[in-house]
Amino acid sequence: MTISDSIGPRAVADIRRDFPAFASDAANAPAYLDSAATSQRPARVLDAERDYLERHLAPVHRGASAAVGLSTSLFEDARATVARFVGAGERELVWAENATDALNIVALGMADASAGLAGPEASVFALGPGDELVVTEAEHHANLIPWQRLAARTGATLRAVRVDEHGLWSLDALAAELTERTRVVAFAEVSNVTGYLAPVAHVVSLVRERSPRALIVMDACQSVPHRPTDFGAAGVDFAAFSGHKMLGPNGIGGLYGRAELLDALPPARTGGSTITRVTLERAEFLPAPHRFEAGTQPVSQIVALAEAVRYLDELGMDAVAAHEQALAARLVDAVDALPGIRIIGPQAGVARAGLVAVVVDGVHAHDVGQYLDEAGVVVRVGHHCAQPLHRALGATASTRASAHVYTTADEVDRFVDALSGVRRFFGVAGADDAGSTNAAAVIV
Ligand SMILES: Cc1ncc(COP(=O)(O)O)c(C=O)c1O
Repeated sequence: MTISDSIGPRAVADIRRDFPAFASDAANAPAYLDSAATSQRPARVLDAERDYLERHLAPVHRGASAAVGLSTSLFEDARATVARFVGAGERELVWAENATDALNIVALGMADASAGLAGPEASVFALGPGDELVVTEAEHHANLIPWQRLAARTGATLRAVRVDEHGLWSLDALAAELTERTRVVAFAEVSNVTGYLAPVAHVVSLVRERSPRALIVMDACQSVPHRPTDFGAAGVDFAAFSGHKMLGPNGIGGLYGRAELLDALPPARTGGSTITRVTLERAEFLPAPHRFEAGTQPVSQIVALAEAVRYLDELGMDAVAAHEQALAARLVDAVDALPGIRIIGPQAGVARAGLVAVVVDGVHAHDVGQYLDEAGVVVRVGHHCAQPLHRALGATASTRASAHVYTTADEVDRFVDALSGVRRFFGVAGADDAGSTNAAAVIV
């Protein structure tokens, strides 16, 4: 048994039995290597959602019945569970639809503050011409377009940290974009294309030193599901994540914010449950987190997300990260030996998260994806919502394999094996390809 076959004391084969999606033991069952897009869910997460709906459904935070009280406790207990998991205080975790929504809550709140729709407490968020926002060229569109729109709304300038030929950005490249006028620095803790692990502690100290007025916003969508998280200790101001990538349901995600910032950020969406006092002319808002949670919340998904978090906690996030990084290293080492296939991101021997994107010379990623699909390997192809990054690398698209707690070394080997045949199949293999008839030979 290699390190990749277990997470702590549990064999991955045993973990897979927790997931209805892997009920088939058939040797030819598809290898699911698309967890960076969305993860499969354990039966106990699906059960938690159903159980809430069958036994506890009631309008949370509305009314005085015992049923409402119980439902409200389940809702707030779930917040406490998820908050602990990410290193947030309970008032520091706002429910959002997903990471995209969470990032928009920050950007739209800042737009409102800039338009004068809040009191002096929101001045930290108010931007205007001359102010600067900094993103990296590697960002997912979810952590790029909200900042583009904020710049357009306020007259601020958007600056981008450039990537190198592997799609990686450095602290030096970041430092070159920081000034005293920088008001936001937005970056992903783990890139969904390169698997790059951002040096968060160094980023935070660099930004605090060079740009004391900047808010640090971290897109943690690809990190929270896969490694230990402590936003409070990391020292970022805001962070965003999605439930569906962490074995939880669709339609629920989280926004972390430091309590004093959340209490001052204008709520982007307004309406019922967000207020203390309303007149015909104006409204006063509750403190965080409720000031942001307008309207009826997706309670069954929230309760189920807490169950997903308990499941991940039981596995142990250090062990989860070690398993997935070992799989990624196995994949990179094997693909590195295949001619005509370029690995985006950290190269062999360098730490990365459990996802790997490749560009196959002479074959479009969609053709690669179809070929792999027919070989029983499910991957993601396209620009992965990161067009500027692909443009910087001279590629329109790439093919990404990604792991989660249920991914086996055998599935990784099946991916590499199938990938090794792509160039020959499409008639673009050169003399170098002659030896790459079977990736298994490369892996072992
Ligand atoms: C790095 C990163 N950020 C943000 C998102 C957006 O996530 P969601 O679609 O769940 O809002 C994704 C999804 O792939 C992602 O990988």
